[in-house]
Amino acid sequence: MNVSRREALGLGALGALGVAGLTLPMAGSGVEAASISKLAPRNMPKPYGVKLVRPPVLPFADMEDKDGRYRLYTVTEQAGLASIVPGLKTPVFGYNAIAPGPTIRVPQNMRVKLRVRNQLPALNPISGETFNTSTHLHGSASLPQYDGYADDVAHKDDYKDYWYPNWQPARTLWYHDHNVHTTAQNAYSGLAAQYHLTDRAERELLPQGHYDVPLTITDAMFAANGSLAYDDNSHSGLWGDVILVNGRPWPVLQVKRKIYRFRVLNASIARSLRLRLSNGAPLVMVATDGGLMPKARPVADYRHAGAERYEWLVDFSQYPVGTTIDLQNLSNKNNVDYDNTNKVMRFEVVADTALPPDSAASKTLSQMPDTLVSSDAMSLTSADSTGSFYMRLERDDVTNQFQISGKSWEDVQASGHQALLTRVQPDQVQMWTVENRTGGGWFHPLHIHLVDFQIFSRNGRAPFDYERGPKDVVYVGEDETVKLLMKFTLQKGGGNTVNAGGRYMVHCHNLPHEDHDMMHQFAVGDPAVNDPILAAPCKEDYGEYPDDGWPYGSGDGSGDTADA
Ligand code: C2O
Ligand code: CU
Repeated sequence: MNVSRREALGLGALGALGVAGLTLPMAGSGVEAASISKLAPRNMPKPYGVKLVRPPVLPFADMEDKDGRYRLYTVTEQAGLASIVPGLKTPVFGYNAIAPGPTIRVPQNMRVKLRVRNQLPALNPISGETFNTSTHLHGSASLPQYDGYADDVAHKDDYKDYWYPNWQPARTLWYHDHNVHTTAQNAYSGLAAQYHLTDRAERELLPQGHYDVPLTITDAMFAANGSLAYDDNSHSGLWGDVILVNGRPWPVLQVKRKIYRFRVLNASIARSLRLRLSNGAPLVMVATDGGLMPKARPVADYRHAGAERYEWLVDFSQYPVGTTIDLQNLSNKNNVDYDNTNKVMRFEVVADTALPPDSAASKTLSQMPDTLVSSDAMSLTSADSTGSFYMRLERDDVTNQFQISGKSWEDVQASGHQALLTRVQPDQVQMWTVENRTGGGWFHPLHIHLVDFQIFSRNGRAPFDYERGPKDVVYVGEDETVKLLMKFTLQKGGGNTVNAGGRYMVHCHNLPHEDHDMMHQFAVGDPAVNDPILAAPCKEDYGEYPDDGWPYGSGDGSGDTADA
């Protein structure tokens, strides 16, 4: 039987059996159908028809407590209407009603309290489930009770205050929903946004302001009325036919003849990308999930899974005004491609005078950097490791559940959230091995909360050039095995106290996989401290917000804003 992957995935009965048993022509090799959206032709967006927009930067209130200054940011999770496809409105559910949500920009060492108010409808129309939320700041070494633990949920008309330490080096983080079993639908509905932690090194070495452009890439499929459609192919994943960048379909960005920095987040719930420039010019990789790489690495194309952040530079100075260069997606195995999923966005080189003059905060480079800065994760060597752990990513073909070493989040729930994959000591360095044993049918972007890791090896060889920087998500491709070297640092300067640590999630960041049910947890130090559900529960939102004290050690976040 020669069925296309899309046909196979679309067949309910086969879907229920699981597609693992079928021999499928794998994607990454061509288009398998024109589209999957049900939009009328006049409502179907066309590539390069709209301009790129940057999400607004979220304002904050300057606050003070006994530890010094901190910032209070507030977002309200609520319904909104987005203009994505021509002629129709798309309901979204986002932070401040926009998708992606507003960008948070914070200098290193600035303590932050993020207040998240759940004013969503009772049910998420896509999942049909109660619209509870749990907010995870992905890339932050937060305490477990502020880490978006899947079962630490806020209900409609609740709020939760999340404290973030921000002592880590500069990086592109993102905040997104992590609600148990509906993370995929909640994030797909719009609950995702970038968060930029800045520091001196990053400001010195990389473009800023106008030349520092966040790109959040997602894919979507639409119903005829313009609302988001959802089909996760028996939890294998959702592959939309429309590529959005910052919420707009295949947009165009006008650029000056200068070097630009792009902070690229793949916030697709399942799709992975293989990005390249249409003229073959290099993407100069300068930062990964955990911030600056020790050395800039030019690449022709690279594999970019969900939740990974890569920052790369493009030099437009060599091109005449009027040149267009497209950002393309060559795709990877086990994605489903449509007519236009090979396109992401377009850059159009314009005269400096065609764009507003640079603000004081804007700056770029006159040439591409070479040496950048190292980091704790990238300085580790295998000799530092005093422990190891092995993880198998697999799928139970009877229950259709994705699992980690035969275990799932249901096991964690059944244990009263006590079950652990492993337990490590604060500041311990360990080498973890992650093996994809799902028979060539799936890739898994594995995310470990709390830590930055170094990809020590990939299939026994050196990692790819572009992943030689601090990471918190690793693309574990079909039949691949990766080794990860990491230090379980809880607080700034290693100031670990007995009260730091606790339980942290580890999971696949293909969100339908995560929800069904490829997630478990590990503990750092004492698993009983900082209970992720009980230590800082949500509260009812009466518009009054009693103060809670700074929960981290005094070494975390000095309130010293010399860095601002
Ligand atoms: Cu971005 Cu546990 O997730
Ligand atoms: Cu997965």
